[in-house]
Amino acid sequence: MKSLLLEKFRTAFGRAPEIVARAPGRIEFIGNHTDYNGGTVLGAAIDRGVWVALARRDDGRRRFASDQGGEVVAVAANQLDKLSGPHAWVNYPLGVLVALRDAGLALPSGFDYLAVSDLPTGAGLSSSAAIELASGLAFLAATGQTVPRETLVQLGRYAENKFVGVPCGILDQGVSGFGRKDHLVFIDCRGPRFDTVPLPAGAHIWIFNTHTKHALVDGLYAARHRECMAAARALGVALLADLSPAALAAAGKKLDPLEARRAKHIVEEIARVDATVVALRAGDLTAVGELLTASHRSSQHLFENSTAELDFLVDALVGVPAVYGARLTGGGFGGAVMALASGDFGPADADAVSGAYAGKFGARPDVLHAQTGDGAMRVAL
Ligand code: GLA
Repeated sequence: MKSLLLEKFRTAFGRAPEIVARAPGRIEFIGNHTDYNGGTVLGAAIDRGVWVALARRDDGRRRFASDQGGEVVAVAANQLDKLSGPHAWVNYPLGVLVALRDAGLALPSGFDYLAVSDLPTGAGLSSSAAIELASGLAFLAATGQTVPRETLVQLGRYAENKFVGVPCGILDQGVSGFGRKDHLVFIDCRGPRFDTVPLPAGAHIWIFNTHTKHALVDGLYAARHRECMAAARALGVALLADLSPAALAAAGKKLDPLEARRAKHIVEEIARVDATVVALRAGDLTAVGELLTASHRSSQHLFENSTAELDFLVDALVGVPAVYGARLTGGGFGGAVMALASGDFGPADADAVSGAYAGKFGARPDVLHAQTGDGAMRVAL
């Protein structure tokens, strides 16, 4: 990837970059919509992500290019307004500049910037967090600043929440920032506090990306956010993470049926994340798998962010003996399913599941045998 990045930078800008940084995509392992509710979540950084190369300019102009085609986008000095249409991808690095400014940090004045990705597109692996963190590292390096990793993660989330306009939690940026090969990232989102948990040997993660996406996915995500906050208010707590499953059961009558389902999903999902950490530390992949599948059933019936396509894949996967468990991963309403499997699960098994899916839905999902990787970092030139 690095040589491709350098070559593309030269093609776009006619010179070599001064700074290179990369940040990985992520898999949500378990903890569905728990992050913005103040709960816990487990994710894995993968060995693919977004690379950013940058060279400073002294005329204050900021020029952005990417490997997704399209022209170089030139932005005038001090122009930090949101872009639309085909240039909208620039809102990710622009959002990070706004985040730096609002945090009282220095901004590089002018630069040439290139982003290149080796993440499968549209796979729900959070290319947005990856581009935010790689951009953040590059901008900080260009101004000779260093910040704690927690701050880098918060800058990325700020860009997403306040500039791009998605009310996401800390999962995507946190995992991209704190990822570690052969580990899962554990986040207690309230602090937030970040930790890593070893992924037991013999655990394999497979991703099945349906490439389906509900037309209203952003609106549905925001609706779930609102429903959770309304449930917390009705129960007199700041966030749903303040309630244990027993406390929720005792107070449940204060909620209407829809809010009660949302709250039950969140509160029980947080308990499942904590149980998953215990099972991982014990190396009990069977127990981990059962928790993953239980998470999916809760998304399916209580949080109602699954789809027929995702349910089909989960049902097919859990029927394969080498699969410990499977669940939708990420926001839901389409997207991808993750399976935890033993080393006995191979391409032929993945193919059989994909073929059955194609028989029903007409197209095969993309399959990725995901490898874990390290978090965001600068790369030596
Ligand atoms: C998306 C968001 C995350 C998280 C998940 C659901 O990926 O970006 O912050 O809320 O959905 O768990």
